[in-house]
Amino acid sequence: MDKVRVGIVGAGFVSHLHMNAYLRVAGVPIEVVAIADINKEQGEKFAAQYGIKQVYTDYRELLDNKDIDVVDVCVPNILHHRVCIDTAEAGKHIICEKPLTGYFGEDLDVDPMEVGKISRLDMYKGAVKNSQEILDAVARNNVKLCYAEDFVYAPPVLKAKRLLEASGGTILELRSEESHSGSHAKYARYWHQAGGGSLLRLGSHPLGLVIHLKQWEGMMKTGKPIGVRSVMADVANVTHTDVFRKTTGERWLVDEWHDVEDWATVVLTFEDGTKGLVLSNDITLGGIVNTLNIYANNNVIKVDMAANDAIKAYAPTTEVFGDEYISEKVQTKAGWSFPSPDEDWMRGYPQEIQDFMEAVYHDRDPVSNQILGHEVVRVTYAAYLSAEQGKRIDLAELDASLKK
Ligand SMILES: NC(=O)c1ccc[n+]([C@@H]2O[C@H](COP(=O)([O-])OP(=O)(O)OC[C@H]3O[C@@H](n4cnc5c(N)ncnc54)[C@H](O)[C@@H]3O)[C@@H](O)[C@H]2O)c1
Repeated sequence: MDKVRVGIVGAGFVSHLHMNAYLRVAGVPIEVVAIADINKEQGEKFAAQYGIKQVYTDYRELLDNKDIDVVDVCVPNILHHRVCIDTAEAGKHIICEKPLTGYFGEDLDVDPMEVGKISRLDMYKGAVKNSQEILDAVARNNVKLCYAEDFVYAPPVLKAKRLLEASGGTILELRSEESHSGSHAKYARYWHQAGGGSLLRLGSHPLGLVIHLKQWEGMMKTGKPIGVRSVMADVANVTHTDVFRKTTGERWLVDEWHDVEDWATVVLTFEDGTKGLVLSNDITLGGIVNTLNIYANNNVIKVDMAANDAIKAYAPTTEVFGDEYISEKVQTKAGWSFPSPDEDWMRGYPQEIQDFMEAVYHDRDPVSNQILGHEVVRVTYAAYLSAEQGKRIDLAELDASLKK
């Protein structure tokens, strides 16, 4: 291969993050040759902004383009399953945004507005089936699947891994969180489009990270990844409570959730008996929270991928800094703020795309792959089941009971 040729499907929010990361790839010859978006204007605007030669409105035309080696799937969650399988069948490598897939009520004859009421056991079965079908298509066609979990690549996380390795310590507990004041995307409000609420949409990042870290620890120590044994979870709609609804004044939090949760907490027990705590909610003011705390037998490491104080800035009103970006989801630029010098870098987007391009060019596995993506889907929907039933769910027992 003389260079890696990429086609992006979807020209929305995350595609810009990916595109800026492609522009930073070093040491591997690459080119983004095409973009596909059902919204023609959106696709054309994106192509013009980044000098992309080919624009399609149907992603299947992009798959027919023989020049393309890798398809970057940046469309809403509900489309990941179909687009990933079609890409694998076209013999092209896949980059898939998180979550790998989910359950959207697509196999049942139900009112889309009622999908959130489907039993969580049926959802678990449906989501795992969707995910397994992607894995099967990837294996059948001998292509790579790069699972775009940027937390795995964030420089503070890589430093934490080096510290852990140097310490020789054993991870006893991992606590990780992604929370903010709520997604403004309309589709995020409906289960039939989003596949879940804050747990799936935000929680897939911290969940992916803690699952990855225990897998990595196991590989480092014994050559065998440490998986998740059981989950115990609770989910809620805090903005649907009377105490929230009766509040007066400006509403800073998104509160138009139809049938998805805006708050979730998951306790994980790993196969070695150690613990994980994953938090994700849409009720957090003050900017996005992206954290990881590692409690080991001989050290503690606290990672903050969002907030940092390399720059402290003060302005008496929010207008002073005009259009200059501060950091994700802060409500105001007034008062003291902590502008992020390079948010993409801190979160691992350029490093993730660099790894994916190298993996394809040098024909090796990416660090974040389909196995991690699949495990996040499995644990997320087991967590929904736990929250529904109010009890701990043992994953091996659950899968065994479904095989009977
Ligand atoms: N890793 C991250 O930090 C991160 C951040 C945001 C979103 N995401 C993920 O990225 C994905 C996209 O989210 P987004 O925020 O960019 O959404 P978005 O709504 O901003 O963009 C999605 C784009 O896909 C296009 N689209 C829809 N159906 C299509 C089809 N059939 N063919 C081609 N294009 C189609 C839409 O027109 C839109 O331009 C989601 O899976 C989301 O979970 C990840």
